[in-house]
Amino acid sequence: MPRKTVKTKPKAIKKVVKIKKESKKLVKTVAPKVAVKEVPTEENEKPRKIKYKLLRGMHDVLPREEKYWKPFRENGEKLAQQFRFKRIETPIMEDVNLFTRSIGKGTDIVDKEMYVFEDREKNKICLRPEMTASVVRSYIMHGLWNMPQPLKLWYWGPMFRHDRPQAGRYRQFNQIGFEVFGEDNPIVDAELILVAVNFFKDIGLPVEVRINSIGTTDDREKYKTALVEYYRSKRSYLCEDCKKRINKNPLRLLDCKAESCRPVKDEAPQIIEWLDANSKTHFTRVLEYLDELEIPYVLDHTLVRGLDYYTRTVFEIFPQGNDEDDQPKGQGALGGGGRYDLLVEQMGGKETPAAGFALGIERAVSYLREGCEKGICSLQKDKFDVFLAQLGEMASRRALKILDELRGSSIKADFNFSKKSLKGQLDIANSCKVPFALILGQKEVQDNTIIIRDMESGVQEIVDQKKVIKIVQRKLEKLDLQQKK
Ligand code: HAM
Repeated sequence: MPRKTVKTKPKAIKKVVKIKKESKKLVKTVAPKVAVKEVPTEENEKPRKIKYKLLRGMHDVLPREEKYWKPFRENGEKLAQQFRFKRIETPIMEDVNLFTRSIGKGTDIVDKEMYVFEDREKNKICLRPEMTASVVRSYIMHGLWNMPQPLKLWYWGPMFRHDRPQAGRYRQFNQIGFEVFGEDNPIVDAELILVAVNFFKDIGLPVEVRINSIGTTDDREKYKTALVEYYRSKRSYLCEDCKKRINKNPLRLLDCKAESCRPVKDEAPQIIEWLDANSKTHFTRVLEYLDELEIPYVLDHTLVRGLDYYTRTVFEIFPQGNDEDDQPKGQGALGGGGRYDLLVEQMGGKETPAAGFALGIERAVSYLREGCEKGICSLQKDKFDVFLAQLGEMASRRALKILDELRGSSIKADFNFSKKSLKGQLDIANSCKVPFALILGQKEVQDNTIIIRDMESGVQEIVDQKKVIKIVQRKLEKLDLQQKK
């Protein structure tokens, strides 16, 4: 009797088939629910499908944008290391009081822009609109004042402000920030400005620093009285907004862009004249350090910043050539910061001078994109050392292992498993300008060899797979030396 041969699939394949079946099920049930929703409709009406949209003021960062984000991410990390800042991360949600008390009632952020809601336990919480207050909370809570001071901290993360969305203004946006605790020396203020300037300069983007000193709380109160008195005497010349600001938030009078208010603003008392001797000396020394560092700056007596916690030095960073009158103050700023010597104590900590700044990454990205379009700067392309081309099923399996070994030896290797032909793969190798391609076919898999192709000369050599890494490393070193000559 002829023997019946029953073909069974190997166990591993069986497993794969099972998973595939399950994932098919998932595609059917879960995926459509995520993308579209069936809406119950009126009688006799066909069910409608609606597509989900982004919330207003929110945005996706797509892979094609990555090339503009990466230089900032890398430079931020590099600067933090060079200037010895330690990374800190805090939660996105915080007790709402943290911000109302530190940023202050009467400011735009607290009065109009915070995302505030109650959680299930009826706690009033909010999405952080900025991170300085959170870092101060963390500094106090975890006794970071016990660490050697000055303590230098940096962060990168999303912030949330329910603002009117427009160019450069989002409801979720990212900031990189640098904060220094425990030192009131003006050298700290200058060093922070240097970090902010280098964040852009290292990428080839020129920026302008605008700077002012708003002195102590006492200085500011006296100045406000003088400002209110002056503006009251000019009331009939003012725009409607400024008439309201006189009583509500007099410092905001200096932000007004209305043409009718300009002559009044130009003649307004300047805060610098109200500074006490210590604040004046502090400010002069900050400027001297900036001169020493050859950082140009613009003294801007109308710069007061929109958060209550600042004392003495305040500054903002703008794209160079940005016309201040184009936009309301702050809207075009790439970043801003200053001293906040009283905040730690106000929030329950010890008396601790502090200073810092934050930069808006979306604005930095759009400045970089614009810079590239205008040819002011260019992006560094990712450079690969080798491209691994494989032909056939066996070769692609072996290629996976060789790629892993190449990467493990810090050789940057590119590949494309969806292109099947050798020509197609070598075209990609050409377009990414790798100096060498590695070619692996059925024969090479069987012989444990691999072909190294010099992409410039087209010369090919067959080498032992075990030796390929050493040989490629030697070739890359040689190439590096030639390029340096
Ligand atoms: P800020 O001036 O409110 O300061 O924000 C800093 C930067 O974040 C702005 O200059 C801007 O580039 C960016 N930014 C603000 N709002 C938006 C928005 N709606 N859309 C896009 N970008 C925005 C602070 O946040 C302070 N915590 C800075 C600081 C740190 N001061 C001392 N330490």
